Amino acid sequence: MIDIHSHLLPGLDDGAADWNEAMALAAAASAEGITDIIATPHHFDGRYNNSAAKVNELVNTMNAMLTEQQIPLTVHSGQEIHVHHHLLNNWDNGLLLPLAGSKYVLLEMPSSRIPEHMDQLVYELKLAGISAVIAHPERNAEIVKHPERLAELIALGAYAQVTSHSLVGGFGRTIERAAWHLCRHRLIHFIASDAHHLEWRGFRMKEAFERAAGTLGEQWSDYYARNAARLLQSEEIAAAPSEASLPRSGGWDKLKSLFRQ
Ligand SMILES: [Fe+2]
Repeated sequence: MIDIHSHLLPGLDDGAADWNEAMALAAAASAEGITDIIATPHHFDGRYNNSAAKVNELVNTMNAMLTEQQIPLTVHSGQEIHVHHHLLNNWDNGLLLPLAGSKYVLLEMPSSRIPEHMDQLVYELKLAGISAVIAHPERNAEIVKHPERLAELIALGAYAQVTSHSLVGGFGRTIERAAWHLCRHRLIHFIASDAHHLEWRGFRMKEAFERAAGTLGEQWSDYYARNAARLLQSEEIAAAPSEASLPRSGGWDKLKSLFRQ
């Protein structure tokens, strides 16, 4: 398995606090069957700034430690970039890291809404040859109320990553239902852990992929796995299985009503 979103580098954000925690997370990832993991510390979110140079240095150190301890896991560089007004400028100036050196970047929106300039940002990144991967849209209140707005961003060239914990109920029933509904509406391209801490927010990737295979069908769990592999190689995302491949479901209106004030 390949995990494209994690906070396992030590001391950079609210993920692993030190090398002990970082290596424990790495061992747990490997034990679940993860072979490659992209480290995506928070960046520019008002609380944490993690420069490309700092991330790269820690990735190199961590890979050397993993080799030394014979843990079969490769860490790749990345950032979880909070959407901000200077994002394009910062990209042009080489201050931002793509995912594993690919043409994909991981973007984080506020949890309450879609930023006003989001469509323009996705479009302009695409013009620059970069694809935005939107982190955990199932936790964005505006998207849950109006999933068509995520569909619009996808039409402009964005992709979306659901969090394993959301699919298995780790963030509660409402988020779980939102996550599955976005999957069923073919608005999700990746499953990733967003792992922060071994005990309270680990991986649960194997569980999430098994649930996806059981709930949506194996062609969907294979699709999510294949997309992560393609991202790692900077290749185009696979065509999604057909709508007809999905089990029928209802309850979208009921879900939206849960988010109404
Ligand atoms: Fe994250």
